[in-house]
Amino acid sequence: MTKKNSPQTALVHSDYRAPDGFDAFPVGIHHASTVLFPTVAAMRARNWKEKSGYTYGLHGTPTTFTLEARLAQIEGGRHCRVVPSGLAAITMVNLAMLKTGDDVLLPDNVYGPNREQAMWLERDFGITARFYDPLIGAGIAELIQDNTRLIWTESPGSVSMEVSDVPAICAAAKVRGVVVALDNTWSAGLAFAAFDHGIDIVMQALTKYHSGGSDVLMGAVITRDDELNHRIELAHMRLGFGVGMDDVYMVLRSLPSMRLRFDAHDAAAREIASWLKQRPEIAKVLHPALPDCPGHQIWQRDFTGAGGLFSVIFDPRFSEVQIDRFVDALTLFKIGFSWGGAHSLCVPYRMQSMRQSWGHQGGLVRFNIGLESVVDLIADIKQGLLAMNAAT
Ligand SMILES: Cc1ncc(COP(=O)(O)O)c(C=O)c1O
Repeated sequence: MTKKNSPQTALVHSDYRAPDGFDAFPVGIHHASTVLFPTVAAMRARNWKEKSGYTYGLHGTPTTFTLEARLAQIEGGRHCRVVPSGLAAITMVNLAMLKTGDDVLLPDNVYGPNREQAMWLERDFGITARFYDPLIGAGIAELIQDNTRLIWTESPGSVSMEVSDVPAICAAAKVRGVVVALDNTWSAGLAFAAFDHGIDIVMQALTKYHSGGSDVLMGAVITRDDELNHRIELAHMRLGFGVGMDDVYMVLRSLPSMRLRFDAHDAAAREIASWLKQRPEIAKVLHPALPDCPGHQIWQRDFTGAGGLFSVIFDPRFSEVQIDRFVDALTLFKIGFSWGGAHSLCVPYRMQSMRQSWGHQGGLVRFNIGLESVVDLIADIKQGLLAMNAAT
């Protein structure tokens, strides 16, 4: 791919070449457990601990290598490995970077299973895990210890939506030689240039926008630095995190439309968020593009888009039972986790049980705005609010 192409063109065109004598746009689906070598010498020449040619199906075929190259390009990185889920990508970063006696810092709003895994590492593996205020910015410097090896960032947090000052966190970490990883799933790698803002390792849940179909589970870890990539490569090989080629193909098939889908989610979500802001039932709209959202100015400074995921806080006069009634009354918005697909979703969260600190009284509900008509989605929310107001 030549450098002069715009990012949208790069999402459509790839460097993949079909076998000689055949040509077509789709990437071939190369299934393999056994990979064949022409000679013993050729087999011995391939290093299965690194991504240097094909060695065994678990470590990749032309289908995975093509997706990995494209993901590295989208994020502005140089190296990428795909794994069976976003959570597997988190696991791979943790196990590549941490060992017994080390310390890891995570934002208090971090994706729940990442938090759960960090607590497991602390309980059973002798790695301390400490949680910081996602709005801490340069103040992270005071938390860094001599044994701190990894700082996780997730910006915005995917439920409470605080936007972190990632460049300030990275600058403080760099002074102490600490690696900073970012869960960049909210921006799909399209709306936040992680490496340009100082991040060392990007983790993506491809399950969301990259797949776009609410049907594939997959994750990726992307780096620019060769030494960090080497550690990720070793972890990938040791963990056995292979992915199915049909799933890889489904993600490849979705890439050309990702930017257009993301922008459509973004436009619809901003319209619905602004509409919700006018409603008397809603105390705050936690959408990074709106001033209610903690870190809104940082989003304005660092991001170029927003996607479809945001949350609202209800006025405290509405009980949990009433808010649940609102969610149950919705017909277009379905109740379910995840996001980035065509269907709108809605989930009420019990924040007090998820965080060390949570200052709001009213209940939080998260919306994933899909690709339906905004008029229909607003009508659905309106009738849901009516049902809530009628409930006692
Ligand atoms: C912010 C964030 N990171 C990571 C993940 C994990 O992705 P997966 O479901 O593919 O394990 C999720 C999934 O909900 C998520 O919301």
